[in-house]
Amino acid sequence: MEEYILADGFKIPKVGFGTVGLKGNDGARRIEMALNNGFRLLDSAYNYENEGTVGRAVRNSSVPRDQITVTSKLPGRYHEYEAAMQTIEESVLRTGLDYIDLYLIHWPNPKEDQYVEAWQALVDAQKAGLVRSIGVSNFLPEYIERLEKETGVLPVINQIELHPYFNQEKQRAFDTSKEIITQAWSPLGRSNSALDEDVIAEIAQNHGKTAAQVVLRWEVQLGILPIPKSTHAGRQAENFNIFDFELSAEEIDKINALSREEGRNKGQDPAEYQEF
Ligand code: A2P
Repeated sequence: MEEYILADGFKIPKVGFGTVGLKGNDGARRIEMALNNGFRLLDSAYNYENEGTVGRAVRNSSVPRDQITVTSKLPGRYHEYEAAMQTIEESVLRTGLDYIDLYLIHWPNPKEDQYVEAWQALVDAQKAGLVRSIGVSNFLPEYIERLEKETGVLPVINQIELHPYFNQEKQRAFDTSKEIITQAWSPLGRSNSALDEDVIAEIAQNHGKTAAQVVLRWEVQLGILPIPKSTHAGRQAENFNIFDFELSAEEIDKINALSREEGRNKGQDPAEYQEF
C-alpha cells in the first residue's frame, strides 16, 4: 500500500473509498467489500448519516482496526464551539470505535463566519484523543490562512472537488506550500463526462487500463489523494488497482489540459455555497 505522510507524522493511503449513499446493512456489506478489495481509508461524514454503517464495516472486517483510517466531517450547523465538540463526540459514538482517525470541517460556510471556532473544537478534540488527525474540506486559501493566524494550527488535509474538468491547480499549490495533502471528492467526475473524453480513452488504451484508473492514477501522480466511491465490487477493485503503471509527463499534461475555469460539477464555490 503506497502512502502519503501527513504533516502531523501519520501515514495515509494514497487512495481512499468514498461512502456517501452507503447506509444500513447493505451499505456496511459494501464497505466491508471495499476493505476486502484493498481499501484502507474510508471517507464519511456526519451528514452522510452513515458513520454507524462505516463503524460496523470496520468492526466486522477482518482487517485490524489500526490499519484502517476512518474519516468523518463536522456539519455546518454545528460550527459553534460547544456544539462542535458534542458533535465530534457523537460522531465517535456513532462509529462504535474508540476514536476517529481523520476529522474534517465539511464546509467553511464563510457567511456564518464560525469556522475558526469550529477549528478550535477540532484542535481540542485532537488533544483529547477523540480524533487523530484534523483537517478541512472545501477551504479556500484565505480561510486556511485565517485558521493558521488565529489558532496557530494548520489542517493536514484539505478535501476539495477535483476531477479532470476542475483540477484545482492554484488551490493545490497553496495546499502544498502549507504541507497540506489535497484529497479529491468526485475524483472521477462522473456527473460530468470526463471519463468519456477521447484523450483519456487513448491513454487508457496505451496502458491497458480503464479510463477511471487513468484518472485516479493522474491524481496520485499529482500528489492528490482521490476517494472514489463505488457500490460494485468489480469497480472497487478497479479503482484500487492503480499502482502498477505510470503515466508519462506528456500524458499528465494532456489530462491537465481538460481543466476549465468553470469546471465545477454543480457550481459549489465555497465562497458562495453553504451547507449545513
Ligand atoms: P457505481 O457505484 O455504480 O460503481 P465520482 O467520483 O465522480 O463521484 O463518481 C462516483 C460514481 O462513479 C459512482 O456513482 C460509481 O457508480 C461510479 N464509478 C465508480 N467507479 C467507477 C469506475 N471504475 N468506472 C465507472 N464508473 C465508476
